[in-house]
Amino acid sequence: MAKLKVGILISGRGSNMAALIQAAQAADYPAEIACVVSNREDAGGLEAARKAGVPTTVISHRGYPDRETFDRDVSASLEKHGVGLVALAGFMRIQSAWFPEHWAGRQINIHPSLLPAFPGLHVQRQALDAGVRLSGCTVHFVTPTLDSGPIIAQAAVPVLPGDTVETLSVRIQRQEHRLYPLVVRWFAEGRISIADGQVTVRDIPPGAALLFSPEP
Ligand code: GRF
Repeated sequence: MAKLKVGILISGRGSNMAALIQAAQAADYPAEIACVVSNREDAGGLEAARKAGVPTTVISHRGYPDRETFDRDVSASLEKHGVGLVALAGFMRIQSAWFPEHWAGRQINIHPSLLPAFPGLHVQRQALDAGVRLSGCTVHFVTPTLDSGPIIAQAAVPVLPGDTVETLSVRIQRQEHRLYPLVVRWFAEGRISIADGQVTVRDIPPGAALLFSPEP
């Protein structure tokens, strides 16, 4: 069966992108990374994608008159590569409403908190300031409202005494790199559906959409 083509949008170092590229190198993985698009030409992830033989495109948002015109060009680039799923991986551009509507049900994001807690920026700082004992990451469908689309899966980690933004970030990122490839696999296998804003993942073991990692 033809593999699902995934387009990844990045702005930075692209460690989640790299985790997806690595997962997709397995012969039995049901998705392939068709392209990586960055809005910044200095994004560190571009080099890693090129080394892995994944086509890369830089579309700088600078010089565009408005968000939607930029978004339409990004979308055209993804469509040129036959993309069936868009995976945001540290893409630091707020999208116009047009993009998530055009890709509704076909665009996912990974966020470094247990949403709906701590949307937006400085996420680990928010978690530490709130004094939560658990944090983690969330993969969700993208809707026009930032970090608030239907949740597909989450991974939880403890917040430990003495944690800093850096130590908590590292612990969460280890789980991101497990969770994102898993969700892309489920999507490619056609297991994920949305009804009334709620996601169902078919035929997975109970609890598999919540990973918990007690390791520090
Ligand atoms: C990740 O923490 C992700 O959750 C957030 O942006 C960060 C991207 O990191 N959306 P990387 O570029 O994948 O390393």
